[in-house]
Amino acid sequence: MGKRTLVTSALPYANGPIHLGHLAGAYLPADFYVRYKRMRNEDVVFICGSDEHGVPITIAAEKEGVTPQDIVDRFHEMNKKTFEEFGISFDYFGRTSSPVHHETSRDFFRVLNDRGIFKKKGETQLYDEKAGMFLPDRYVKGTCPHCKYAEAFGDQCEKCGTSLSPSDLIDPRSMVTGEKPIYRETEHWFLPLGDFQDDLQAWLDKTENWKPNVMGQVKSWLNQGLGDRAVTRDLTWGVPVPVDGSDGKVLYVWFDAPIGYISATKEWAELKGDPGLWEKYWRDEDSDLIHFIGKDNIVFHCIMFPAVLMSYDGYILPKNVPANEFLNLEGQKLSTSRGWAVWVHEYMKDFEPDLLRYVLGTGLPETKDADFSWKFFQDHVNGELADIFGNFVFRTLSFAGKNFDNKVPAAGPLTNEDRAVLGEITRLKNEIAECYETFRFREAIQKSMNLARAGNKYFTEMEPWHLRKSDPDRCGTVLNVCCQITAALSVIFDPVTPDACRRLRDALHIRNAGWDDITEQILTAGSPFDKGEILFKKLEDDVIEAQRQKLEDQTRTLQASTTELEPLKDTITFEDFSKLDIRVGEVLTAERVPKSDKLLKLTVDIGLETRTIMAGIAQHADPEELPGKKVTVVANLKPRKMMGIPSEGMVLMAETPGGQFKFLSSEADNGSTVS
Ligand code: 2FM
Ligand code: ZN
Repeated sequence: MGKRTLVTSALPYANGPIHLGHLAGAYLPADFYVRYKRMRNEDVVFICGSDEHGVPITIAAEKEGVTPQDIVDRFHEMNKKTFEEFGISFDYFGRTSSPVHHETSRDFFRVLNDRGIFKKKGETQLYDEKAGMFLPDRYVKGTCPHCKYAEAFGDQCEKCGTSLSPSDLIDPRSMVTGEKPIYRETEHWFLPLGDFQDDLQAWLDKTENWKPNVMGQVKSWLNQGLGDRAVTRDLTWGVPVPVDGSDGKVLYVWFDAPIGYISATKEWAELKGDPGLWEKYWRDEDSDLIHFIGKDNIVFHCIMFPAVLMSYDGYILPKNVPANEFLNLEGQKLSTSRGWAVWVHEYMKDFEPDLLRYVLGTGLPETKDADFSWKFFQDHVNGELADIFGNFVFRTLSFAGKNFDNKVPAAGPLTNEDRAVLGEITRLKNEIAECYETFRFREAIQKSMNLARAGNKYFTEMEPWHLRKSDPDRCGTVLNVCCQITAALSVIFDPVTPDACRRLRDALHIRNAGWDDITEQILTAGSPFDKGEILFKKLEDDVIEAQRQKLEDQTRTLQASTTELEPLKDTITFEDFSKLDIRVGEVLTAERVPKSDKLLKLTVDIGLETRTIMAGIAQHADPEELPGKKVTVVANLKPRKMMGIPSEGMVLMAETPGGQFKFLSSEADNGSTVS
């Protein structure tokens, strides 16, 4: 056994099902990493569980008129099952309502309190008199002071992304009763993060291979200077604060949730019959701790939780926190409240996990936000999994099966081509390992596919179907080489497509092969294999179209029931309005603008003349479908350059509450005025 590693994935809130954004952020990359380590026979433990406290849970309960316990019981079971069925291979999936977790997080709080780490301070906070409760975090909504979005939460504005405190909101209103809250004095325990600034900096200076997007965010927090952070809340749902004089207070969810990783490791060790084993993973300098999270969790994992671990003493700190950016869906921000999401349990009704594991893996938001679309899914399944990996394996095993009696043919003398392609096995194996070790999963997957690509090219160039008659020995050598590549693929692809790889290793009778077995001679001549099977079936257009339709229907149904519309703007005079020259026009041509993923360059006939208009709609409209489309244009907007091209007007679009953009079409002749 090699080095010891504890891998965690962010504990998902147990207030809703798991969607693709969750997978691409914290679960799939962690699972790739863990499966790779297991293939290397390393000692790795993979921990996760449900985050069952916090305001998102209680709000979900209130919305449905059930208890918070009902909510967490339902979603804990559901999410645990989804992860299992999708092949996210946790060693243990715990929950923060467990007695072990309550005790562990209370112990942390008690120890830190006894050591005089916390500050206790009075504060005025928003209070709902009708409900008789304080309104922390998402219990209050109001207008964002930065972007004026009227539906900003007490902890964050989802429109502009700014973190907020409830008291920052303009016109706050209670999410419990809708009433306007008052201010009332309360007392809380604070973690003075400023006291940890130097120790945090010293620890971060020693870390290696951190992603620039993660380190950048952490440095910017440190540069701004760290303040006090409240670690208690006036709520009834959560872990009760374990010290005198704290009635009616619970631990802040972000204080207890990361400790959930420790509690879950304790429960895992207990189940293994070795209760003390958890300590090896958390309190032994020879262990590595890796947290997989989404970018919105960086501050908690890189500043707050390390400060807590340092204060307790004796705990190791994370070696890396490879946080991912966000995944968008069909060009729009993923939004559960708007139904703009693909739920993993729904996905699995129609497709097998391997396909999505591969496709999401090739497009992970590792360094910047990424987009998933059903077309992207179809293209990568058909063009790579089926046409390259699947095709190579199938043609190898069926050809060798038919002509060599389902046994690996013997290899004769090797040519330069044979040696070159066999050399790819070891070269790529090492490069792929390096990618996995440094959290570059997209590249690991791309290189894995390159091995299948090299195999296909070799098969085609060697033309074994001709050699079969003319030179059967040479034909055997070529197929021996192809069988070796097939065997290497069955191990190399295991972290990404574990089901297909297990089927393939079974067919090759090498079920237990691991990373160290990947050589240029994995299979011995004469060893039997089973008939070639299709590993991945191609996806037809109608199947993909049905998914797109499902997404549209889902969001439309939800939007029909939501009233989250933009608030009205300030009144203007008729004179203000009449300054606008709005015309009916028709798109003549539309093309993408190089180096811009937002802009389309349009030429629009506005009756009097043809205008060039740059429109920021590339993510919402297909340029091929635009010629002939009737639109409305603001024709007297001062021209301005965009990407170096002068834009002579603006095409009007309606933005739906779901963030979709629709043209304002008119049947009137081009050039007609709008007033
Ligand atoms: O953002 C979230 O979904 C949180 N529930 C993640 C918690 S991670 C950990 F610290 F528990
Ligand atoms: Zn805002």
